[in-house]
Parts: sequence; structure tokens; C-alpha cells
Amino acid sequence: MSIPKEHSDTAAAWEVTAAIYEREEAEDIVLLKQGNNRLLAPERERLGNLRPWCRRAIHLQCAGGVDTLALWQLGAAEVVGIDISPRMLVSAKQRSAAVGAPATWYCCDVLATPPQFDGTADLVYTGKGALPWMMDLGAWAAVVQRLLQPGGRLYVFEGHPLDWVWDFTAASYQFDPRTGDYFSQSPLTNRGWPMLSDAVQAHPAKDELRVHEHQWTLGQLLNSLVEAGLQLEHFAEYPDLYWNQFPHLPPDLARRLPHTFGLLMRKP
Ligand SMILES: C[S@@+](CC[C@H](N)C(=O)[O-])C[C@H]1O[C@@H](n2cnc3c(N)ncnc32)[C@H](O)[C@@H]1O
Repeated sequence: MSIPKEHSDTAAAWEVTAAIYEREEAEDIVLLKQGNNRLLAPERERLGNLRPWCRRAIHLQCAGGVDTLALWQLGAAEVVGIDISPRMLVSAKQRSAAVGAPATWYCCDVLATPPQFDGTADLVYTGKGALPWMMDLGAWAAVVQRLLQPGGRLYVFEGHPLDWVWDFTAASYQFDPRTGDYFSQSPLTNRGWPMLSDAVQAHPAKDELRVHEHQWTLGQLLNSLVEAGLQLEHFAEYPDLYWNQFPHLPPDLARRLPHTFGLLMRKP
């Protein structure tokens, strides 16, 4: 599998951004120990009780692992978190050790997830800022397909691609001059997060850091998974934001358009 060259740039910037996830470790551990998590209501509702059917959940692009451990809380017997950033996974390991969760953390490019995980997942979970870093969606869908065992499910809860077109500094819906085309197929370098994070801004080599983002349309996402052999079980769009990406947009205006979506698919 050839890895798009942009992925290594993006990985270096996320490695720096891991500082933010490290800062949240203590708070996350308290939250998890209390039996709480950071999943959004639509995710919790759709995933429900995992105990009857999920032995292993694999979280692709798991970052600090807080949502991976939420899957364990929902009933997955064991969880695997995969991410390209070693520092993110050290942070994830702190969380799982603190709560005594049966978790395995594996560092690699998603597209290079090793065959040892093939056919082992009852659930593959991903999203909340994961897909735009993939430069090859067909290759990503093929990885999901091979990780799932027959009958296994993929759940994606991701930022809605329509959000890509809006100017995130505006107080109303205005097209961003760089990204205001939903159908544009050009990846963009250093659009916003995580380059605007204090972790990146404080980094001595910040001017050498680059992230490359590709906003895939909903049609491209669905078709990539159908072409990989998965079947649609449920798809929904939500007005909920999963992070504060439009700090100046009044909440009543924000909720008139979708900002997230949930996609549940099954491997026959
Ligand atoms: C916005 S974070 C995802 C956060 C995660 N959904 C959560 O809620 O905790 C993006 C993550 O994708 C990872 N990542 C980016 N490109 C990747 C790649 N090619 N392979 C694996 N992980 C990647 C980054 O290291 C980072 O941890």
C-alpha cells in the first residue's frame, strides 16, 4: 500500500498537537472513572449497548483514546486504538492504565494498519476530525473493510463536509474564500486547526509544520464504502457541533444547518 506523501507532514503537526491531549489526561481520567465519557448524544444513542455483539472495537485515528475508552464503557470487551502519533498513544495509554481498560494502542498510518488486525473487529469506529486527513478515501475504505469481521459494523461520526465551505471567523454563514466550494477536490494546506492551536503556535519549528486536509463529500464517502463492499444500515445528519469551530455564530443560527453526521454500515 503506498501512503500519500502528505500524510507524513500531517502526522508531524499532530505529534506537536498531542500536547493538548496530554493536558486533558487528568480530566479525562476523572470523567472515565465516574463512568462518563465525551461521546455526543447521537453517537451514544446509535451505538447503544455494545456488550451483546462487540468483542473488539477498533478506533481509527484515536488520538488520546478518550473515545476509544468510551467504547469499552459502552460494552466492547476490548478496544484497539490506532493513530499515527506516538505521543498521542502514550497519552492514550495513561488513560487506559488509569481506568484498567483492556486496550491495545498501535502506532501506524491508518492506511498501513497491519494484517494482524484483519477480520478481528466487530466495530470499527472513527470520526470527529479523522477523515479530512486521509488523502485516499478508497484506500481508507479498503482498510475498514479488511478490519471488520463478517457481520461487523462501521460507525463514523464526523464533522459534516458542508462546514468546510463556511468562514469560521464570521458571525453568520459566509463562504470562506479558500474553501467555499463544496465540490472542490483540491486538498488545502494549513487551513485552520490544528495549526492555530497554542501547541503548534508555541512550537519552535512551527513555520515548518504543515497539515493537508481534503474535505470529502458525503457522496464520495458513501460510495467509497459501498465499493469496498459495505452495506448501509443508518445515516443521519445533526445540527450538533463536536467542537467550537464557529465561535462567532449565534447558536440558533448554527442549529439551522447540519454540522455532524452519523453513518452506520455493515460488512455482509
Ligand atoms: C482530530 S484528531 C481525532 C480525534 C479523535 N477523533 C478524538 O475525538 O479523540 C486527528 C487524529 O488523526 C491522527 N491522524 C492523522 N493522520 C493520520 C494517519 N494518516 N494515520 C493515522 N492517524 C492519523 C492524528 O494523529 C490525530 O490523533
